[in-house]
Amino acid sequence: MSIETVRRLIRVAADEPGGLAVLTGAGMSAESGIPTFRDAMTGMWSKFDPAELASEQGFRARPQHVWDWYAERREGVRAALPNAGHRALGDFHRRHPGSMVLITQNVDNLHQRAGVPGMIRLHGDILADRWLGPCARHPACSPTEAVAGRPPRCADCGNLLRPGVVWFGEMLPPAAIDAAELAARRCRLMLVVGTSGAVWPAAGLAGEARRHGASVVIVNPEASEIDGDAQHLLRGTAATLLPALLDGL
Ligand code: OAD
Repeated sequence: MSIETVRRLIRVAADEPGGLAVLTGAGMSAESGIPTFRDAMTGMWSKFDPAELASEQGFRARPQHVWDWYAERREGVRAALPNAGHRALGDFHRRHPGSMVLITQNVDNLHQRAGVPGMIRLHGDILADRWLGPCARHPACSPTEAVAGRPPRCADCGNLLRPGVVWFGEMLPPAAIDAAELAARRCRLMLVVGTSGAVWPAAGLAGEARRHGASVVIVNPEASEIDGDAQHLLRGTAATLLPALLDGL
């Protein structure tokens, strides 16, 4: 499948509201210097134990350790810049407002910074804080009032702040997964960029789109677990292929 053929599919999809759904994963931000989760050599999970760092149980057991790990990742996100792939999506969104629905598994803010404000965030936002449990003093949830610390805590009840990401064993935000499934069912074309397809329910969205009649194109330098859901596999990186696919449309 050539780039030109996929560009034709994108051009047709862009004529309809919600015609193009884009699902992104950690590989989308790899060329911005944010490590992926599973790439064997550089992935985060090759150096750390996910159960310890990305679960409520792990956070309760070692709150300072987990908070500090997230603080380091937050610094990495703040220092990173959108790459050419993020920029190509942002530019396309400006040219075709309403026709692209962007669904991301990433917890960084690089899509927003490249000009896609209203994306669906399946796994939360690493730069946001929320309370670990219900807070006696702040039932309406205002983490800004927390007392500084690692992690910050409620002065009254001791409740801790935690990063606003989805951890292992937690449900995805219902509104986000509902919106993502609706987008998958309605789109004419789904572009799947930089995900291993190993984590559900996000991994099911490409199959959902295909079952509802959409074309599915995967952009990834390596094989993924959902390659079987796609009609077209483009082997290459997000920062190289997205400008080639989207620029000028
Ligand atoms: P993974 O780390 O599992 O997969 C990254 C994918 O990106 C792999 O398929 C790589 O081949 C591909 N890749 C690497 N560099 C790339 C590049 N420059 N351009 C395009 N693709 C590239 O990341 P995800 O699939 O996003 O969940 O992982 C899904 C979820 O697993 C994450 O959202 C996270 C983790 O547990 C939560 O935080 C809840």
